[in-house]
Amino acid sequence: MSSTIDTLLSYLRVPVLASSGLAAVLSGLLYFKQNEIIYPRNIPAGSRTDVPKPPQFGISDFEELMIPTPDGESLSAFLIRPSNKQLAIHTTILMFHGNAGNIGYRLPIAKVLEEDMGCNVLMLQYRGYGLSTGTPNEKGLMIDAQTGIDYIRKRAELSGTKIVLYGQSLGGAVSIGLAAKNQKQGDIAGMILENTFLSIRKLIPSAFPPARYLAPLCHQIWPSEETLPQISSIPILFLSGLKDEIVPPSHMAQLYKSCRASTKIWRDLPNGTHNDTVAEPGYFEYIDEFLKQHVLRTEPIRRAKY
Ligand SMILES: *[C@@H]1O[C@H](CO)[C@@H](O)[C@H](O)[C@H]1NC(C)=O
Ligand SMILES: *[C@@H]1O[C@H](CO)[C@@H](O)[C@H](O)[C@H]1NC(C)=O
Repeated sequence: MSSTIDTLLSYLRVPVLASSGLAAVLSGLLYFKQNEIIYPRNIPAGSRTDVPKPPQFGISDFEELMIPTPDGESLSAFLIRPSNKQLAIHTTILMFHGNAGNIGYRLPIAKVLEEDMGCNVLMLQYRGYGLSTGTPNEKGLMIDAQTGIDYIRKRAELSGTKIVLYGQSLGGAVSIGLAAKNQKQGDIAGMILENTFLSIRKLIPSAFPPARYLAPLCHQIWPSEETLPQISSIPILFLSGLKDEIVPPSHMAQLYKSCRASTKIWRDLPNGTHNDTVAEPGYFEYIDEFLKQHVLRTEPIRRAKY
C-alpha cells in the first residue's frame, strides 16, 4: 500500500453509505423523512461546511468549480489534473460519491488517480451536499450526474478524453443510471462500481432494519438491477468488499451476474467493509489494470505499488 493511501486512511474511512436516522424512521414518518435517511448529507458533522481542499492532500493542479444545472442548482466540484504531465493518459474520471460526507473526504482517492495513474478527475458533490445548493432526491441527482458529463463534453481540455464513471455505493447507482442514458454517445470508455446495491428497496432490510416492513413506501428507487442489463458497450469493473456490513456483497454479485456488457471484470476484496474497501490491498491495482487493459487497451505498466 502506498504511503499516500496509508497516511490518509483515516479520511477514507468516512461513511460511504450511512444508515442513520433511526429515530426518524421509528417516528413513523418514513414516507416524508426518507430523503433525510437515504441522503444523510450532514454526516459526519460539518459535512455541509467543512470541505477539505486539494492542497491539504498535496494536489496542486486543480480548479474549484461551481457548475450550474439546467434546473437552477449550483454544484460544487473539483477538477483535478495529473501532476506529472508525462504520465497523463487523456482519461477523465467522473467520480460519484456515496450518500454521506462530501467530495473533500474522497480527495485521497483522486490523488492516486491523478498522481499514479495520470487521470483527470472531476469530483462533484450532488445537490444538497457540501457546498452545492439544493436538496437531494433521485431525480435531482440524475440531473447532477448529467450536468457533470455534459461539463466534460463542453470543456475543451476534457472533451476529447476518455470518460470513466466511478461510483461508490449510492454513486454506483448514479453511474449506472448515467451510463444507460449516455451509452449511445460512445464517449464513456469505462465504469467502475464499488459496493453498490440492487435497488434501495432491496437494501432496506439490511441497511435500514427498522424500516423493513415499510419498504413498499420507499419512493427513492435507484433501480440498478433493471438498468444495468441495458448497458452493453461499456467495460465495467466491479469492486466488491466481501465484508461489507451495509450493502450485502450478494447485491454486487447479482449485479455482476445480470450485467450484459461485453467486458465485465469482477474483483473482490476479501477483507473490505463498506467504508474501507478502498483502502484494501489490491484496490488501486485493479483500477490501474482495468484502465490499461480495457479503457486504453494497452499493456498495464506498474508504476507504483499500492
Ligand atoms: C461506516 O460508516 C457508517 C456510517 O457512519 C458507520 O455506522 C459504520 O460503523 C462504519 N463502518 C466501519 C466498518 O467503519
Ligand atoms: C484478511 O485479514 C486477515 C486477518 O487480518 C489476513 O490474515 C489476510 O491476509 C487478509 N486477506 C487479504 C486478502 O487481505
